[in-house]
Amino acid sequence: MIAYILFTVLAVLPLILYMRNPYILKDLIYAITAVKIGIRMGKIKTHFYSLLDCFLHKVEKHPHKKFLIFEESCYTYSQADKESNKVARALATHASLKEGDTAALFLGNEPLYVWTWLALSKLGCTAALLNYNIRSKSLLHCFSCCDAKVLICGADLQGAVEEVLPSLKQQGIRVFILSEHCDVDGIESLLDKIKQASDQPLSPQLRANVNIKSLALYIYTSGTTGLPKAAVINHERLWMASFLQAIAGVRSDDIIYIHLPLYHTAGFVMGLCGAIEKGITVVLRRKFSASNFWNDCRKYNITVIQYIGEIMRYLCNTPKKDNDKDHKVRVAMGNGIRGDTWTEFLERFGNIRICECYGATEGNVGFVNYVGKVGAIGREHILHKTMCPYALIRYDTEKEEPVRDSRGFCIEVPKGETGLLVGKIGVKAPFSGYAKNKQQTEKKKLKDVFEKGDIYFNSGDLLRIDHDGFVYFQDRIGDTFRWKGENVATTEVADHLLMVDFVEEANVYGVKVPGHEGRIGMAALKLKENMDFDGKAAYQHVKNTMPSYARPRFIRIQDAVAVTGTFKQLKMKLAEEGFDPAATSDPLFYLEDNKGYTPMTQELFNSIRDGTLRL
Ligand SMILES: *[C@@H]1O[C@H](CO)[C@@H](O)[C@H](O)[C@H]1NC(C)=O
Repeated sequence: MIAYILFTVLAVLPLILYMRNPYILKDLIYAITAVKIGIRMGKIKTHFYSLLDCFLHKVEKHPHKKFLIFEESCYTYSQADKESNKVARALATHASLKEGDTAALFLGNEPLYVWTWLALSKLGCTAALLNYNIRSKSLLHCFSCCDAKVLICGADLQGAVEEVLPSLKQQGIRVFILSEHCDVDGIESLLDKIKQASDQPLSPQLRANVNIKSLALYIYTSGTTGLPKAAVINHERLWMASFLQAIAGVRSDDIIYIHLPLYHTAGFVMGLCGAIEKGITVVLRRKFSASNFWNDCRKYNITVIQYIGEIMRYLCNTPKKDNDKDHKVRVAMGNGIRGDTWTEFLERFGNIRICECYGATEGNVGFVNYVGKVGAIGREHILHKTMCPYALIRYDTEKEEPVRDSRGFCIEVPKGETGLLVGKIGVKAPFSGYAKNKQQTEKKKLKDVFEKGDIYFNSGDLLRIDHDGFVYFQDRIGDTFRWKGENVATTEVADHLLMVDFVEEANVYGVKVPGHEGRIGMAALKLKENMDFDGKAAYQHVKNTMPSYARPRFIRIQDAVAVTGTFKQLKMKLAEEGFDPAATSDPLFYLEDNKGYTPMTQELFNSIRDGTLRL
């Protein structure tokens, strides 16, 4: 009898557990992976082992496995190792780089990017990954943040470097270009020196003092507002971010497609470093191209893809094809896919495991939606919360600061409510800050949060965690504006606008109106090909879906919605240009009460500016 009861309980128990939490199996797998990573990290810390060591280990293990495929070339692990030996020797001899030095990389996605980084690691140097889209003042600013002695630039970027050359010369910076010769005084060719160098391995003694806390990289924030900041990435952080592929379930026989820029965390750390950690094959592409995306996936048998920002929407916006599901992609990892795009993407491109993550390059807290729940950016897990404590705290969007109680402490929001994400800074979850920017580093720290003397990293993001433990992105501070005393979330308005049949992309922001408090809504729209803006239809839709204070009062039509190099929408500049027809040649429309969107005129603008027309 007892045996029978026991048997029944054992049989029913999993069912009960499952009913209480249908994700129990995935939670368990995540826990096992997290524990494995924890053990691995512990080993890496006690006997320091860098990502370069990991790469060299894979070279030993499978020298003839394909490591990097780029356009028509293919390099095995062993070949990549040799290529980087040559670069390292050329840099040691001609640029006198040695352990502890920093060199800045200023080039686009190509194999030399990877060889040069490996080479710098072999010499015990730090690489500063400059965004190759920046120019002049911004370039100089980024370069001087990282104290580099050497600038290594791509052959196609010579013009951009020449612009800032006098200033670099003044600072005594050595500039190398990845071409065979260069006639410009102050720029030395490097490719010829690389070709002549020996491919023999370099002594590990050259990097004997590098440890887990040593600087590995500088990665720049995308700078949607103001100048970019150089986030300081040490080896510990590099490792932690590289494990994302393991969490996403990437296997050693996978082939990953890296089309995101290598100067950023997603492409470089999660993509390239993660691939080295797993010892897999990388297909590198110079630039993302929506029209070539799936052809590349088919051509190279790609199984893992990455996305960021608006990428998934771009893919969904391409014309439908019969072979949309004909590919081997099984995992997509990234950040920033919205719920509607997610559903559409799966319907159209088949059963792909989308592993949406959340985190900032410099942040000390992140989430992974390892169960694939549509719309969520992550899932809470007890192990994770113990390792890096975080909280969602009440935030006052008007005063733009966290709400404090009578004792001056922050208030954690109840489950299901939106709050500002803060991550406790400590030994396990450090915040390294920004290079040479104490002010911005301090600005990201929030003090006396729950007790006197504690310090938290202020993510700047408003999140919500539901009763099942799923984390949802609500807003980035600054992505909400107030109009007529109401909060308007730009992403929500954009989601509504995207439902209009002629709208392909929508970028929503608030603009200042003289004599009015707050900001009024404005949207920059990209229309679908061969479609016109229909002011009446847009108005009908806006009226049916949004309260009056949230409706964009002004609409601006753009040929392309402005994005950063990492596909985040740019809002600042648009907000500054506002709705003045003299400030732009883009068509502008004005929402006239009870009528619809009509073309914006200079008279209309003048009367709004002068206050004769109140909004
Ligand atoms: C892709 O896979 C197919 C079938 O498994 C194989 O025949 C083909 O050679 C592969 N292509 C590449 C580029 O590896």
